[in-house]
Amino acid sequence: MRIINGKEIADQLKNEMAAEVERLRSERGRAPHLAAILVGNDPASETYVKNKEKSCHEVGISSSVYRMPENTTEEQLLEAIDFINNDDEIDGLIVQLPLPKGLDADKVVSRIAPEKDVDGFHPINVGRMVLGQPSYLPATPMGIMLLLERSGIPTEGTRCVVVGRSNIVGTPVSILLSRNLKNANCTVTLCHSRTQNLAAVCRTADILIVAIGKCEMITGEYVKEGATVIDVGIHRVPDATKKSGYALKGDVKYDDVAGRCEFITPVPGGVGPMTIVGLLRNTLSAFKGEIYPSR
Ligand SMILES: NC(=O)c1ccc[n+]([C@@H]2O[C@H](COP(=O)([O-])OP(=O)(O)OC[C@H]3O[C@@H](n4cnc5c(N)ncnc54)[C@H](OP(=O)(O)O)[C@@H]3O)[C@@H](O)[C@H]2O)c1
Repeated sequence: MRIINGKEIADQLKNEMAAEVERLRSERGRAPHLAAILVGNDPASETYVKNKEKSCHEVGISSSVYRMPENTTEEQLLEAIDFINNDDEIDGLIVQLPLPKGLDADKVVSRIAPEKDVDGFHPINVGRMVLGQPSYLPATPMGIMLLLERSGIPTEGTRCVVVGRSNIVGTPVSILLSRNLKNANCTVTLCHSRTQNLAAVCRTADILIVAIGKCEMITGEYVKEGATVIDVGIHRVPDATKKSGYALKGDVKYDDVAGRCEFITPVPGGVGPMTIVGLLRNTLSAFKGEIYPSR
């Protein structure tokens, strides 16, 4: 069994990006710039945005956070998006989700200019991704693809089962893995809460990707001997032995599953650090005009 060290791979990729950012900054006279809008005071969102700022700083990408109160109206939020859309010195814009009640996330995301939509959630970018056209890939699926590639895990012709069909993880990663591309070409099955005999379906997987948001649901009986298991879930579980008072767990019961796997991602230190790499890559790509060359 080999543990896929997402932190180490993410650090390598960030170092590579830092060198490129520095080169581009001296050529163009400014660094790429990522803006985030944070509405309300959700503690998890605060942490995510802080981590994004820290990672931007590590690779030399400028970042700014627009904080808006919990009672922000949809009109005010859309105005803020328009303002950033029109700022030529901002390359990427994300609106941290979830939004407070009463704000329509679909409407808000659709207002972001597609060329600045570095989360890859805008319908135009999703459509382009599905059609195999240049687009910003959503960060977590991109991170998973990079993890597989950098770990040298063969994908072509393998059977892949994705559990969870969310718009941000399960569905896009199932599309990317089924593409006719180097480092993809899997035969993909996408499972969800109505899937029957889930454990039996999962046991057909050479590569099992789990994004269900159910703490440690996937046990050894779901995993074929010699499979690769990618655990996307993140859960805080109270743990008095930890200084923070909690431990992080995944959707996979690691101790039960690891012994059966050829490769497995841990939580923390697996998919999590790669997600931020996906966002940074998209921001750099926006700065370079790779997806929308007219910028
Ligand atoms: N590491 C990272 O960077 C990262 C990034 C994003 C998310 N996450 C974590 O990943 C997990 C999933 O997030 P998400 O946003 O993709 O989740 P989500 O939007 O809640 O979707 C969960 C999916 O899992 C399916 N599901 C739920 N219970 C199931 C069950 N018992 N059997 C089979 N399928 C089941 C649901 O099926 P239905 O469609 O039928 O309801 C749904 O498609 C969460 O723990 C989240 O915190 C981590």
